[in-house]
Amino acid sequence: MNPYIVANESRFLEELFALLRIPSVSADAKFADHVHTAADWVKDALLKAGATHAEVCQTPGYPIVYGETIVDPALPTVLVYGHYDVQPADPIELWTSPPFEPVVKDGKIYARGSSDDKGQMFMHIKALEVMMQTTGLPCNVKFMIEGEEEVGSANLGWFVAQNVERLKADVILISDTAILSNENPSITVGLRGLSYMEVEVTGPNRDLHSGIYGGAVGNPINVLCNMISQLVDQDGKITIPGFYDKVEDVSVEERTEMAKAPFDEAEFARDLGVDGLAGETGYSAHERVSIRPTLDVNGIWGGYTGEGSKTVIASKAYAKISMRLVPHQDSAEISQLFQKHFESIAPDSVKVKVGYHHGGQPAVTPTDSVAYKAAAMAFEEAWGKTPIPMREGGSIPIVALFERELGLKSVLMGFGLNSDAIHSPNEHYGIFNYLKGIETIPLFFKHYAELSK
Ligand code: BES
Ligand code: MN
Ligand code: MN
Repeated sequence: MNPYIVANESRFLEELFALLRIPSVSADAKFADHVHTAADWVKDALLKAGATHAEVCQTPGYPIVYGETIVDPALPTVLVYGHYDVQPADPIELWTSPPFEPVVKDGKIYARGSSDDKGQMFMHIKALEVMMQTTGLPCNVKFMIEGEEEVGSANLGWFVAQNVERLKADVILISDTAILSNENPSITVGLRGLSYMEVEVTGPNRDLHSGIYGGAVGNPINVLCNMISQLVDQDGKITIPGFYDKVEDVSVEERTEMAKAPFDEAEFARDLGVDGLAGETGYSAHERVSIRPTLDVNGIWGGYTGEGSKTVIASKAYAKISMRLVPHQDSAEISQLFQKHFESIAPDSVKVKVGYHHGGQPAVTPTDSVAYKAAAMAFEEAWGKTPIPMREGGSIPIVALFERELGLKSVLMGFGLNSDAIHSPNEHYGIFNYLKGIETIPLFFKHYAELSK
């Protein structure tokens, strides 16, 4: 381990804890002040670490923190992207310690955002400090840290388009994904896209007594459940016409390569406490969560959910439904196909409204680039292992956006674990992963500078 990191380990942890104490939940307006506080905090941290310039850039939504240290215009420039906003902590009662009061248990930092993405984003700020205080920067660095990732990055496209010159770089570096395990580090080479929809089903013009009317009217909740159950068939195939038209056929060679990754299905199930897995016929769990598109209900509500019972047929029922997309599927087109199909399967007894929340395009990143090689060499040096290229199931919509707007590819050098419980109660991040990340990032800079010569 780099001696500077060893000497400063406890301060690096304390500083991260201070950021984790700011409840910067972007989805809930009650936390708006805290989201702004987190942006200011990140700006100050950049300056303290050695950024020669940092500012909080206002947008119509939450600000984007920009920072840079340009050492020599002749050197390559790395643009670091991350996010300082976090998911809501609910359901709060399932946390074993308060979500915004970080505690260390068994070598892991428990707090909302510890892994996604404050802990991983802050590694880059500390890596800047490490480089400034030891070797000096082998590349120029720019930072773009946003506060709306968890709600769809609505203002990021606008910001990027406004700042094409300022964001000029040679590569984008992101730590907002996971490795396979601490024994088997991996580099993410693909992310799924997303279409996030909300549906409203309306039946009778008011809530009804379920005895007086039950049986003769379409119950919106029953109808909604029935409609949802038609969206995926017995083989786990999505039934929306046209849904698979553009889905990339992954070659037999690539699937064979994927099957070599040490993805343990039994361990995967055991960790989740389930006796069996589910999904599309003909694909492994690893394939189902990475190279295949999916449809999931994320929330469903309506009717009486209070204490005791109430005999009622509710007037309305709702659901939030998201689809994960794979290369060549287009998020806007899939959202339209969903809307058309959902409207077409609604019976006359109800009216449906289909709304769109947000989405993002899928992305794949090359493994034959200088940047990928530099990342692989950094892992080899710090972890003593060659990282495995892996596609992941999550979405980071800005990866495709950067490619379109800035013509830049990203390197997805994440250090989390899928078991970190991101978006879930008791999110945590290994101290090992945090410090190892701070060690690996400067090595990426070093190898990237050398390979770019
Ligand atoms: N960091 C995650 C994405 C991620 C996690 C990718 C793990 C790969 C592995 C990111 O913060 C996230 O949660 N993205 C959202 C999409 C967004 C549009 C709300 C997602 O994937 O649900
Ligand atoms: Mn994230
Ligand atoms: Mn997230």
